[in-house]
Amino acid sequence: MTTTEQSGRSDIGANGRVPDELVAAYREHGFVRVRGVLDPDEVERFRTSAEAYLIAHRAESLEKQGTFSQLVNVWQRDDNLRALTFDPRLGRIAEQLAGFPLRLWHDQMLVKEPHNNVATEFHQDRPFWPHAGDRLALSAWIALVDVPPERGCMTFLPGTQHRTGLRPQNLGDEDDLFALDPSLRWLPRVTVPLLAGDCTFHSGYTGHMALPNRTDLARYAHVIIYMDEATTYSGTAHVVTDPLGLAAGDRLDGDTFPGPWIPHRG
Ligand code: SIN
Ligand code: NI
Repeated sequence: MTTTEQSGRSDIGANGRVPDELVAAYREHGFVRVRGVLDPDEVERFRTSAEAYLIAHRAESLEKQGTFSQLVNVWQRDDNLRALTFDPRLGRIAEQLAGFPLRLWHDQMLVKEPHNNVATEFHQDRPFWPHAGDRLALSAWIALVDVPPERGCMTFLPGTQHRTGLRPQNLGDEDDLFALDPSLRWLPRVTVPLLAGDCTFHSGYTGHMALPNRTDLARYAHVIIYMDEATTYSGTAHVVTDPLGLAAGDRLDGDTFPGPWIPHRG
């Protein structure tokens, strides 16, 4: 896979928007691929920053039993990665897909080390989050290296963005989500390889997993999680909100949760 495959290959129009068909696909399936959000120079710059960040902060990675290294809120500590998290191109697309104003929930770097050989098993994201009063949040998962299936790309369960009410699922148990709702077992599973600089957007309830990394190269993904700007704190525990001294019902806003994403939309 070469940069030749990437050149001129972007789903973003001159007006900064993605075609209506991609918005329709996101609304129907709960996920969509957007190609060419970063050009090769940007990929190189952000991947270099991500590699350095991982070396400097690996000890702070949240333990996930070999699934991935997870470093949360990198935007607060690295100027280059902050620029990626607040890249207006990504925010504009996220808001186009969501259809309402957004703010940042958190970002995270997810790295599957070479030959980690461990999948991130099927789960929904939203049950983990202490959110209330919100419309459907969504995540941008940006590939900072080429991510074919064998390097740990994502697989989605189309249409599951409406399946609410399940408890958080175990990322280390391939059967957990399906035990909670056996009907999901029989849905098509859509695997989405990405070239470096491509991304997927998926909603907070869309079931998804990531394959193991069986290659010699680390899989770097930068994830930006956008939430409804009106989201309030539900009162349950989460690594991002635990230090903040919030009370249930408080708005998740202010400096820790910047937004609304595009303050002066027409
Ligand atoms: C992964 O990249 O391994 C998982 C990402 C996710 O669960 O959103
Ligand atoms: Ni997830």
